[in-house]
Amino acid sequence: MCGIIGVVGAPDTLGTLLEGLERLEYRGYDSAGVALAGAGTTWRARAAAGTESVAALVKECESAPMGFSTGLGHTRWATHGAPEAVNAHPHLDCSGHIAIIHNGIIENHSELREELLARGHVFTSVTDSEVLAHLIEEARRDGQDLTEAVRTSLLVISGAFAIAVLDATEPDVIVAARRISPLVVGTAPGITYLASDVPAILDKASAFYAVNDDEVVRLGPEGFRAIDLEGAPVRLRQLTIDWDLETAEKGGFDDFMAKEIAEQPEALRATLLDRRRRDGAICFDEMKISDDELRDVKRIVLVAAGTSYHAALVAKYAIERWARVSCEVDIASEYRYRDPIVEIGTLVIGVSQSGETIDTIQATREAQRRGARVVAVANVVDSSLAREADAVIYTRAGLEVSVASTKAFVAQVAALELFALRLAQLRGTLLERDVEAHYRGLHAVGAQVQLALSRRADVEAVAAALAGARDFFYLGRHVGYPTALEGALKLKELTYLHAEGYPAGELKHGPLALIEPGVVVLAVATDPSMHAKILSNLAEVKARGASVVAIATDDDEVISAVADFVLRVPATEPLFAPMVDIIPQQLFAYATARALGRNVDRPRNLAKTVTVE
Ligand code: F6R
Repeated sequence: MCGIIGVVGAPDTLGTLLEGLERLEYRGYDSAGVALAGAGTTWRARAAAGTESVAALVKECESAPMGFSTGLGHTRWATHGAPEAVNAHPHLDCSGHIAIIHNGIIENHSELREELLARGHVFTSVTDSEVLAHLIEEARRDGQDLTEAVRTSLLVISGAFAIAVLDATEPDVIVAARRISPLVVGTAPGITYLASDVPAILDKASAFYAVNDDEVVRLGPEGFRAIDLEGAPVRLRQLTIDWDLETAEKGGFDDFMAKEIAEQPEALRATLLDRRRRDGAICFDEMKISDDELRDVKRIVLVAAGTSYHAALVAKYAIERWARVSCEVDIASEYRYRDPIVEIGTLVIGVSQSGETIDTIQATREAQRRGARVVAVANVVDSSLAREADAVIYTRAGLEVSVASTKAFVAQVAALELFALRLAQLRGTLLERDVEAHYRGLHAVGAQVQLALSRRADVEAVAAALAGARDFFYLGRHVGYPTALEGALKLKELTYLHAEGYPAGELKHGPLALIEPGVVVLAVATDPSMHAKILSNLAEVKARGASVVAIATDDDEVISAVADFVLRVPATEPLFAPMVDIIPQQLFAYATARALGRNVDRPRNLAKTVTVE
C-alpha cells in the first residue's frame, strides 16, 4: 500500500519527487525515501518519523547534491519490517549503485534471502523488498542491461509488486514493473514519470498510461517502451484522466469511504499473501509464542472495540469450530475493569485497525499483567498494540482514511480465520486436507467480494426505495449475527439513523414490541443451516408491518416469499460469509448517507482513532 514515484529528465528531479511524495502520503507514511542517480553515483536519503516522514525527508534532502536527472521516491506503509529508517525504501544492492522501490509483498522473500546470503550478499534491512536489489545486482553482473536484469529477476519472484529501479551505471533510465499493485506512467516533453497513483504526477504529465500485470517498462527522458515477462513488446493503454487533485487522491472516487469499500478485494489479497511456509504450516508476521504453547492453549479471549469487536465475534465461531478451543469475546473497555480471570493457557487476542485504541491496549496490558500471552491483530505496523504483544498478525488492508471502518473488517476476519486454521493445524482438530480446502476457500473470498461490489446499483435502488425510513433492525444468526451488528453500526455512523443489530432469535424476547409499519428489518439470510429459522423470524416481522430486506445467496429461491427486497450475494462457506455479506450492508449505509447529504468520511462526533477512555 506504499506510494511510488519516479522521474527521468526533469529539470528539478528532487523537487518533483518530494512534491509527489507529499501527495502520496495518504497511501502510507511510516517512512519515506528518495534515490537519485547520475554520473556513476547513486545518492539516497531516508527518514522515518511517522506522519511527519515526508517532512523529515525534505529536511534530510537539504544537503542533496545537484544535477541528477533520474530519481525514485517512496512513502511506506510497512508490511515486513518495522517502520524504521533502515527499512525505508529505496533499498540498495551491495555495490550501492542500484536502488529499488517496491510496493506489495514478495511471498518467497525468505527463501530468496537465504540463497542470496549464501552467495555472499549483505542485507541492510529486514524487508522483503531488498531481495530484489540483490537479484538485479547479480543479473547486472552477468552482463544483462537494466531492463533485462529486472525482467529475469522478476521471473523468480512470487507475490505482488509495483517496483521501480535505477542504476547509476546505466543513468537516465528507470525500469519499472507491476503485478497486482498499481503503476502508471506519465509523459511530458523530455520528461517521463511513473507513480503508484495519478495524484503524484497529475499536474506534471500530459499523458498517462496504465502498466498491466507482468509488464516491464523502460523509462528514459525521450519516453518509454514496455515488454512482457517473456520479453515481447507490449503497448500500454492510455488513460483518460479528467480528475482534479482531490478526486485523484481518492482514486477517482467521490470520497475515501467509496475508495476503501472498493479496495476490499485487494485488502483481502494482501492480508492472505505469504502466509504458508514450504512445509504447509500457516505462518504470521511476528510469532514469539512457540508452537507448543499455542497447541496447549486452553482458552482464548478476544478483546476489541467497534468494528474490530464485530470481526472478533466472527472469529469466535471459526476458532471454536476449527480449533475446538473455548473462546470468548469481550468489549475491550469492559474486560479491563471486570477483574478478568487469566489462567495458565489463556491466550488474549487484541484486535484493532489502528493498534492505538486505548481501550484495547489497556485490556491487553491488563491481560499481560495477569500472565496471559497476547496476540495482536493490527493494521498499523509497529502500532502500540503490535509492539507490546507477544505475537502479531498484520491485516495489511492499507491506510484507512475514512473514519468508519470497512476494509479493515474484512481483513481482520480473514486474518483471524487464518489464525484459527493455524491453531487447528497445531492441535490436529482438522485434517490437513480440510485446512488446505479452507485456506483455498479464504483466497477465493476476494472474488466473491468483488462480485458483491459489482451489484452496487441493486443496493442503491433498495436504499432509494427505503428513503425516509428512520428505524432499522439488523438481524442474523450464527456469524450472520456479528455481520448484522456491523451492518447496523455502519448505518448508524454514516447516516445518524437509529439502527440496532440483534441475534434473530432474540427478537421475540423484547424487540418485537418495536416492530410496526415504517420500521425496516434487514436480515442476513445466507447460512443454509439457519435459513428456515431466519425465514420464520422474517415472517414474524412482516406480519407486523415491517419492510423486510434480506441479504440472500444467488440460489435462494424462497426468500422472496418473506422479503420485500432481496440483496443477492454469491454463496460461500458460512464462516467466510461475513466478508461477503457485509458488502451490501456497507453499500446500503453509504448510499443512504449520501442521499441524506452526510459527510461519509467524517461522521459527526467520531474520531478515527480513539485514544481516550
Ligand atoms: C467503526 C469504527 C470504530 C472502530 C473502533 C476500533 O466503523 O471505525 O468502531 O472500529 O473505534 O478502532 P480500532 O480498530 O482502530 O481499534
